[in-house]
Amino acid sequence: MQEPDLSRLLDLAVAGAAATAVLTTAVELDVTTVLSTRPPGLTVAEAAEDLGLPARSAAQLLTAMACLGLAEADGDRFRPSALAHRHLRPDELGYAGDYVRFVQQRAPWGELTAHLSGSARPAGFAEGQESAYRPDDEVLRQFWSGIHPLSQAAGAAVPDVVEMSGRRRLLDVGGGTGGFALGLCERLPELSATVFELPFVAEIARSYVKDDPVGTRVEVADGDFTAGPLPGGHDVVALVNVLHNWDEAQGAALLRACHRALEPGGVLLVVEHMVDAVGPGSTTSALVGLLMVLETVGGRTYHTTEHVDAVMAAGFTGATVVPLPGQAIGSHVVTARS
Ligand SMILES: C[S@@+](CC[C@H](N)C(=O)[O-])C[C@H]1O[C@@H](n2cnc3c(N)ncnc32)[C@H](O)[C@@H]1O
Repeated sequence: MQEPDLSRLLDLAVAGAAATAVLTTAVELDVTTVLSTRPPGLTVAEAAEDLGLPARSAAQLLTAMACLGLAEADGDRFRPSALAHRHLRPDELGYAGDYVRFVQQRAPWGELTAHLSGSARPAGFAEGQESAYRPDDEVLRQFWSGIHPLSQAAGAAVPDVVEMSGRRRLLDVGGGTGGFALGLCERLPELSATVFELPFVAEIARSYVKDDPVGTRVEVADGDFTAGPLPGGHDVVALVNVLHNWDEAQGAALLRACHRALEPGGVLLVVEHMVDAVGPGSTTSALVGLLMVLETVGGRTYHTTEHVDAVMAAGFTGATVVPLPGQAIGSHVVTARS
């Protein structure tokens, strides 16, 4: 038998938390913008001065960023990696720094044992509250600006993996800021969309939609998907990062509501992180499931086959799973017909 690799334990004990801390610090100090100020990149001494750090600290931070794929070292200079350049500069449309901040503030990873045993109240739930989505939640405010660009990118990626030609009207149930709907509309010029959301989130969505170049094709409807039927007149219905917030029974009820609302022949899209064949490719999805344990009552990452079975049990036909490569907010799409 091969000797087990003990260094893996050090990776898990130190490297995971340290990598998150490096990313969070890079966002806090806006290191990517600083490294972008001069095209060939900055020396450690130059970066240290611009970041207000001692040179030895700047060297450690930049080296760690380079090892994590957030910067590139070229001779004695550091410049942003392509990932950081696109997603860690606040003036970029794809900026993901707010999402990084949100997860850091929201997720009590140190209390995972208590959350797994059910003895801790989910993060973001005030005493007596039944929903993690409340207008008075200050931390949640960062969630909307954080998730918007990520959802928009996922919406724009879907037509690469799912046949969407000829589709005209999307209903995005629990559609958040409208990011997914806007991304999909950007790719499909014939598509218009309804974002269905809780009234206080619908207000936030309207502010994003009105500023977007394809926003004239997206309307926002106030509603509560636990309290009545969903609006009709749509040939696509999407649940993006919604089912993993809920337990199996609540998810089943929501899928049945989607089935009732969708026009005959319409298509269902379920997009979120799902575990598929267990292995390295499912690591992020499995870990996102633990984030759901910390944040929700009954939410978790589902296996692709669980979603397929639930979709078929709700009355849909022909459910299939496709990977959605390279997306931060979803690993797979489950599609089916009404
Ligand atoms: C994890 S967020 C996903 C948002 C969006 N789909 C995305 O991926 O960007 C879940 C969304 O479900 C919405 N939601 C929760 N309960 C709801 C309800 N009862 N009726 C309508 N929307 C609800 C929340 O407001 C939130 O925007």
